[in-house]
Order: sequence, then structure tokens, then C-alpha cells
Amino acid sequence: MKSKKRMVSGITATGTVTLGNYIGAIKNFVKLQEEFEMYIFVANLHAITTPIDKLKLRENIKSMAALYFACGLDPNKVNVFIQSEVLEHTQLSWILTCNSTIGELNRMTQFKDKSQKQKNKNRTDYIPTGLLTYPLLMAADILLYEPDYVPVGKDQKQHIELTRNLAERMNNKYGNLFKIPEEYIPEVGSKIMDLQNPTNKMSKSSENPKSYISLLDDIKIVEKKIKSAVTDSENLIKYDPINKPGVSNLIVIYSSLANKSIKEVELFFSNKDYGFLKNEVIKVVSILLKEIQDKYYNLINSNDIETWLEKSANNARYLARKKMSKVMDKIGLNYK
Ligand code: AMP
Ligand code: TRP
Repeated sequence: MKSKKRMVSGITATGTVTLGNYIGAIKNFVKLQEEFEMYIFVANLHAITTPIDKLKLRENIKSMAALYFACGLDPNKVNVFIQSEVLEHTQLSWILTCNSTIGELNRMTQFKDKSQKQKNKNRTDYIPTGLLTYPLLMAADILLYEPDYVPVGKDQKQHIELTRNLAERMNNKYGNLFKIPEEYIPEVGSKIMDLQNPTNKMSKSSENPKSYISLLDDIKIVEKKIKSAVTDSENLIKYDPINKPGVSNLIVIYSSLANKSIKEVELFFSNKDYGFLKNEVIKVVSILLKEIQDKYYNLINSNDIETWLEKSANNARYLARKKMSKVMDKIGLNYK
């Protein structure tokens, strides 16, 4: 029997999980779980790259794990685990740190954006080192498991390219160490935009809660957020992300959640106004969120989650240890 191809991915436990995370990443995990062997984790080590309150962090970790299952990941099919429970992630990230350069990390656009934000707050004195080195932890997350694909949103493409470069560099230096992974980016919805500033990515770290939809937002709040989403004054429903970013974003959200192509959506909304479009978006988002939230509140206080997470962490540890032991041998750290 041909063995299944493998996928690895994670979401940072910084705050809530957004509709952008769902459409860009989780929806794909759920769709692919039958076909692939999957390792999906809560990236809690990534969540400390910028300061975070410890109680909030704890809450985020549990909540994100429950959300993975509430969104439809089947604990019998997918390995869902907590990143820090597999120690090899940090171990390999150090080795990758020693095989990378500050120059290549400085070129990461996410680092540039995030450090710029600190500078804008007049905090040039406080750009955490972890913000710079975080793509190496991400590369370790990936390379440990020898995945064929990494399902992510478009914003992570550059980090996956860096992962590939590091893997190739180390393969050349030490002999065949790592499998070269490919990104797996959804055709529709790989970058859901901020509802208030539709030229920016929808992000859970946005300071304005009206900018994003959390999967756990109250449906009434979601309605208000979508109603107040920025559009334009043309009243023409057309996919044109450059000139009509707000409307195009609503079209993409609808297209992804209604499982219709952009063309079909444009046709469906031709001759309709923005009020109608927003109401239809509210309908599809509310149906999704209600389903997720019902499952979530059933799960969050059950003991099942811990059992599932531990079982999966064990499976992950098995692969990670095997890989780490090969790495230690090949680069000469193992003296025996
Ligand atoms: P993060 O929340 O930054 O850890 O992102 C976790 C996953 O969600 C990654 O695969 C991202 O590419 C994806 N993602 C985050 N924000 C968005 C967005 N606004 N649109 C599409 N995908 C996103
Ligand atoms: N860095 C990713 C993000 O912010 C999250 C992440 C961490 C990830 N480790 C990963 C995604 C490994 C894919 C594979 O979006």
C-alpha cells in the first residue's frame, strides 16, 4: 500500500483564532485530513516572541487546541499537539540558528513589519531577538517531520522559502539531512484582509477588534463588524483587489465559505448592492461560527482534549527524536 504524503502546520497562540486563520489555514487542514498524514500544532513557543501575559497564554493554548477540533479536525485522523511538548523543536531551532545569517533573517518581510511596529511605538530599544529568529523555529517545526507539504496562508511563503534554503544548505554541508518541503497555499482565501484597512492582512494582533473576526466572537458582534467593513462608494460588486480591496475581501470570504468560485460569486451578486453582499456574508459566516462555537463549548471543559493532545505529542515525539538523532550524528554533536 502506498503510504500517505505528510503535512505539517501550526498557528501561533498569540490571541484568538481569526476568520483569516480559518480560511487561509484550518479549512485546508480539515479538507486534507483524509488524504494526508497530518501533524498540526499550537505554536505556543512562537507566541512568546512578543510579550504576552502568562494567564492569557495558557488560556490561548487550550482554546486553540479546542478550536482545532471544533473546526473539524478529527483526533483519530490528525495529530494535534502543543509545540513545546516536543522538545526537539527548540533543539533543532538552535542548530538552524547556527546555520543561518542575520542578513537573511533581516530580509523577512514579517520581521520588517513587526519591528517597524515597535519603532512606530518609539520602542526601537525593544525589538525582541525572537522576532528576528522566529523563522528558524518555524523551519525547525517543519524539518523535524519531513513533510511533503506545509499548508499555510500566503504571508508564510517567504518563511517556507527560507526553510527550503536552510535545508538545502545543510544538505550540501552535511550530506542528506532534510527533506525539502513545499508550501500548500489555498487558491481562494490565502490572504483575508483587515475589515477596516483592507490593504492589510486580517490579523489577531490588530489593535482594533473591528478589523478582524474571531471564531469565538458573539454572532451579534460579527454582524456589526461585517456591516461596518470598509468598502468603497462605487456600489459595484466586482473582484478587483487593487482598486476595490474591501469589496474584493468580502467576495473572497463569501467564495471560500460558500464553496463557490470568484466568478460564480460575481455572477450571483451582479446587480445587487453592498448591503445585500454584506448580509449574505453575515449569513455564511454566522452559520460557520455557530457550528464551531457549539462544538467548542462542548469540548472546552472535557478531558478528551488532554488525552488527544498527549497521544499526538507522543506520535510527534517519535518522529522528532528520530530526526534529531540523525541530525546530531551528521553534524558531529554526538560524541559516541
Ligand atoms: P498566525 O496566526 O500568524 O500564526 O497564522 C497561522 C496560519 O494562518 C498561517 O498559515 C497563516 O498564513 C494563516 N493566516 C493568518 N492570517 C491570515 C489571513 N489574514 N488570511 C489568510 N491566512 C492567514
Ligand atoms: N509562523 C506561522 C505564522 O505565523 C505559524 C507557524 C509556526 C507555522 N510554525 C509553523 C506554520 C510551521 C507552518 C509550519 O503564521
